[in-house]
Amino acid sequence: MNQDVIQEIRNKVDIVDVVSSYIPLTKQGKNFFGVCPFHDDTNPSMSVSREKQIFRCFSCGASGNVFHFVERYEQISFREALKLLADRAGVPLTGFSVSQKPNKYEKFYEIYDLTNKFYQNNLLSSYGKEARNYLKNRNIEEDLIKEFGIGLSTGISNQLTNLLEKRGYLISDLNAIGLSAGEKDIYQDRIMFPLWDPSGKCVAFSGRRYKNEEGSKYINTKETKIFVKGNTLYNYHRAREFVRLKKQVIVMEGFMDVIRSYTADVKNVVALMGTAMTSEQIQLLKRLSMDVVLCFDGDDAGIHATQVNGEALEKQGFRLKVVELPSPEDPDSYILKYGKESFQTLVEQAITFQDFKIKRLKLGRNLNSDEEKAAYVHDVLQETSKISDEIRREIILKNLAIEFNLSYNTLEKGLQELLTKVPKESPHVKIPSKRQAQDKYYVAPRAVLYYLMVNNDVLAYYNRQGIFFPNEVFRTFASEVTYAHQKYGISSVADFYTYLSDKKELLSLLEEIIALDLEDSVTKEVIFDYIRVMEEDYKNQEIRRLKELIKNTSDLNEKMRLSEKVRSLKIGS
Ligand code: UTP
Ligand code: MN
Repeated sequence: MNQDVIQEIRNKVDIVDVVSSYIPLTKQGKNFFGVCPFHDDTNPSMSVSREKQIFRCFSCGASGNVFHFVERYEQISFREALKLLADRAGVPLTGFSVSQKPNKYEKFYEIYDLTNKFYQNNLLSSYGKEARNYLKNRNIEEDLIKEFGIGLSTGISNQLTNLLEKRGYLISDLNAIGLSAGEKDIYQDRIMFPLWDPSGKCVAFSGRRYKNEEGSKYINTKETKIFVKGNTLYNYHRAREFVRLKKQVIVMEGFMDVIRSYTADVKNVVALMGTAMTSEQIQLLKRLSMDVVLCFDGDDAGIHATQVNGEALEKQGFRLKVVELPSPEDPDSYILKYGKESFQTLVEQAITFQDFKIKRLKLGRNLNSDEEKAAYVHDVLQETSKISDEIRREIILKNLAIEFNLSYNTLEKGLQELLTKVPKESPHVKIPSKRQAQDKYYVAPRAVLYYLMVNNDVLAYYNRQGIFFPNEVFRTFASEVTYAHQKYGISSVADFYTYLSDKKELLSLLEEIIALDLEDSVTKEVIFDYIRVMEEDYKNQEIRRLKELIKNTSDLNEKMRLSEKVRSLKIGS
C-alpha cells in the first residue's frame, strides 16, 4: 500500500471528528476526553489529541492513530478502515479493493441472508395471507415490514432445510447455526423477525406465533458461533445514527416496541429482548451513548426491570432517565392507544432515575406512622446524596420539607452528613500524574526516541553524530524512524503508528513512548541530559555484566583483565 495515500487520508481527516462520531468527547485543556470503548470503564480515561492526531487510554493503554481507532471500534481490517476514512475524506482510492479477508463465518452469514430473503418472500406469497392479516391487525404496515425485514416461515416441515441443501450447504452447518434440527426446519409457521449483529448482519431470528396460542410466543435462535442473545441489542446498528442526533439512547424490553416506536418517529431505540441486561449489552450501550432512557413495560415486571437494570447502569456511570408508562402498557400498546405525540411527550418528559427511585421509596410504606415516615425521609436523603447537581438536591429537600413539615435545615444537615461520608467522585478526568516517579533510565531512551520522531534537529543530530541507545530494540526503533523519514517523509507520531503497525515489539515501544505524554518542544540541554543518562545506564549494565564474568571465571589472568575494564569504566563516569 502506498504510504503517500495513507498519509494523505490521515491528514485529511481529523481524529477528534472521527472519534467523536463514535463516542462523546469533551474538551479539557488541549485534549478531548471520552469513555474508552475498548475496555470496561466508566471514567473518561481516553484522551484524543488534535495536535498529535492520536488517541490514548490512560487506563487500558490502548493507543494509536485514527486508523487504529476505526479498526478496533468497527472490528475491521486496516484496509477496510482506510477505505472507510478515504470515503469520509473524499479521497478516491483508485484501483484499490478492500481485500475481503475471508471471515471464517462468511458462509453462515450467507445462509442467514438467503434465509431472510426466503422468509420475506413467503410473507408476500399466497401462503402469507393470514400472516399479512395478523400484521395488519397489529398495525404493522408494509414500510415497517420492509424496514425490519419481517418474514414468514411456512408450515412445511423441511422447506428451508431442503432449499439450503440444494444450494449446497451442509446439514451439519444448518444444524450448527440453529436453522435446522436434523433434516427439519426449526421454524415452522411463524412470523420471522431477523436479529442482527452490531454490524447489521442477520445472524438469528425470533419467530412469533400468529395463528393460535400453542407453543411459546417467540422462539429465538439458539446460541451459535455468530449469535449470543445476551450480547445483542435489537436494532443497535440502525439506532446508531439516530442516537448520534438525539444524543441519547432509549432502551426497551421487546423488539415489537422498537418497531412500533419507528412509527412515532422515535428511532434512537434498542431492545434487550426480554433478558436482564448483561454486561456485554452495557458495553454496547456505552458505544452508543452514556445518556440512556429506560422505557420498559408499565407492569410490575417492567418496573422491577427498570430498578434492577437502572442500578447496574448507574454503577457504570450512565446518565439515566426513565419513561413511566401506565400499567400495563408497553411502548407498542401505548403508542397504539394514545398516539405518537403522546408517546413523544412521555419520552421528552422522562424523569431522572433518582426521581424514579425516590418515587418508588414511598410504595408499600405507611406514611402515617412516624417511624416509617422517618425511614422514608432517610432513604430519600440517601438517594439525594447520590445526585451531583446541587440545584436538584435543593429542590428535592425543599419538597420534602414541605411534604412532611420538616425544617429545611434539618434535612440539609442530614444530607451533608451523608455527603461527607461518601466522597463523591469528581466528574473531572483524573489524569495520572505525569511520569509517576518513573525511572530515569526508563524515560531517557524513550524520550529521545520521541524527539527523534517529532523534532528535526534531534533527527539531524542522530544522522550526523549518532546517538547510542542502551539496547537493541531502541536501536532498531531509531533506525526505523530515520528510514521512514527519509523514504516516506514520515515525521508525525500518528503516521509512525501506521508505519510500525505490523512490527509488534516496536509498536508496543511506541505505546510506551506515547504514554510518557511529552511536550513537543524541547531544549538541547534536555536532550543531552537524556543522552548522558543512557550512557550511564549502559555503563552500569556493562559493569554488571563484567562483574558476573569475573565471578564465573577461574582464570586469574582473565579475572585481572576484566577487573581492569571495570575500573576504567568506573573512572570514566
Ligand atoms: P414481551 O412479552 O414484552 O414481548 O417480551 P412484546 O414485545 O410485548 O411482544 P408482542 O407485542 O406480544 O408480540 C419482550 C421480549 O422478550 C422476548 C422477546 O425478545 C420479546 O421482544 N421474549 C418474549 C421471548 O424471547 N420469548 C417469549 O416467549 C416472549
Ligand atoms: Mn407487546
